[in-house]
Amino acid sequence: MTERRIAILGGSFDPPHLGHAAIARAALDAGADQVIWMPAAASPFKQARPPAPALDRWAMVVLATLDEPRFVASRAELDRPPPSFSIETAIRLRAEIAAPHATLWWIVGADHLAEIGRWHRVEDLVQLLRLAVVPRHDLRDAALLEAIERLPERIRSAVEVLPMPVVALSSTEIRRQVRQTGELPARAVVSGVSQYIARYGLYRADRPAGAPASAQAGPAEHAATAAGSDLGSQRAEGVEERIMDQLVRELPRARLEHVLGVAGTAAELAERFGADPGKARIAGLLHDIVRVWPPERLLAACQERGLAVAGFDLEHPLVRLHGLLASHLAEEWFGIKDPDVKAAIASHTLGRPQMSRLERILYVADYCEPGRGPQAEDVRLAARDDLDAAVRLVMDRTIAYLLEQGRAIHPLAVEARNAFLEDSVRAGLTKKS
Ligand SMILES: [Fe+2]
Ligand SMILES: [Fe+2]
Repeated sequence: MTERRIAILGGSFDPPHLGHAAIARAALDAGADQVIWMPAAASPFKQARPPAPALDRWAMVVLATLDEPRFVASRAELDRPPPSFSIETAIRLRAEIAAPHATLWWIVGADHLAEIGRWHRVEDLVQLLRLAVVPRHDLRDAALLEAIERLPERIRSAVEVLPMPVVALSSTEIRRQVRQTGELPARAVVSGVSQYIARYGLYRADRPAGAPASAQAGPAEHAATAAGSDLGSQRAEGVEERIMDQLVRELPRARLEHVLGVAGTAAELAERFGADPGKARIAGLLHDIVRVWPPERLLAACQERGLAVAGFDLEHPLVRLHGLLASHLAEEWFGIKDPDVKAAIASHTLGRPQMSRLERILYVADYCEPGRGPQAEDVRLAARDDLDAAVRLVMDRTIAYLLEQGRAIHPLAVEARNAFLEDSVRAGLTKKS
């Protein structure tokens, strides 16, 4: 079996631009199987808070990585209290992401070469990973090789140059231009990032950083497509970009953060448990797409589409119908016909008997995405190696919570749990005490 090679591209990503994409592509060209884009909570070398809040930088990194399946957005550093040190991240990555024999490349800008010797525990760090140095206009070719030669021997042997042309773009320059002119420079960021910056008015002088943009365009046009059911071809047609565009336009930021968290967690779980990460991510992006609609609008939209609504759903439309409707809209708006993706979206709140692997993944991801905080930690732990243990925990927790709150329980939640217990007994997974 060939050794996996994983490159890590850290940074503030404020905003992520085409220069970052060029570096990530160069890492793929140099043989990386995957490039993990890892926004930092704050750089240990720049103590000032970055101008855009972590949520915005995270959302933009998700947008910047959508159209390349070998690009992965990671919150591994973002959720840690600053300052974050590479060594601790490297230890965790070794343990959690990379198999023991994988090669890890940490991508660093040539401008950091001079300070590498001062990095916290750098000798330990270079035991865990290799450093891939990106050339810059004032430090490239022979000058860059000389700078590497000047490093202490134990560090030098872990350093290599990432072959690529010098990229002139900088986040600082992009922010400055938006602040001064209100416009992004041409060909600086991918279209999703550009839409996001405009939508939320990031970096503009006339709006405090992170404040939501006020007036928004009217309802989005939903051009139904004739796309087939193959998600691989849909990726090529930019379906994820159209979904993100819709999400950015319609969702309040807290909900957007949740959705991005679910999409990322679902893709990770799919990778871990042998499901399709692309399908998991799409299901995650779409699962709450109408979650903020008022109940009357949900009911009307369900009825328009001939979805029979009765009993509990009529009394409490939000609980289940937002998922059911979202699974229909996945096809109607975005041409997604994949039955497993649609089922996962439809069953994400309550589960159902005989859930597929993808359905179980989305069900768990919705509960334990990073934004859910420390109370979901035991589900995250269970989901590290036992998907069904995590499903069981989520089912129990949800029902216990509703009981505690004195709230009504959807009969499907009870039915799903009963069926799950029976299946577990049948599979010999539950030991009688
Ligand atoms: Fe939901
Ligand atoms: Fe959700």
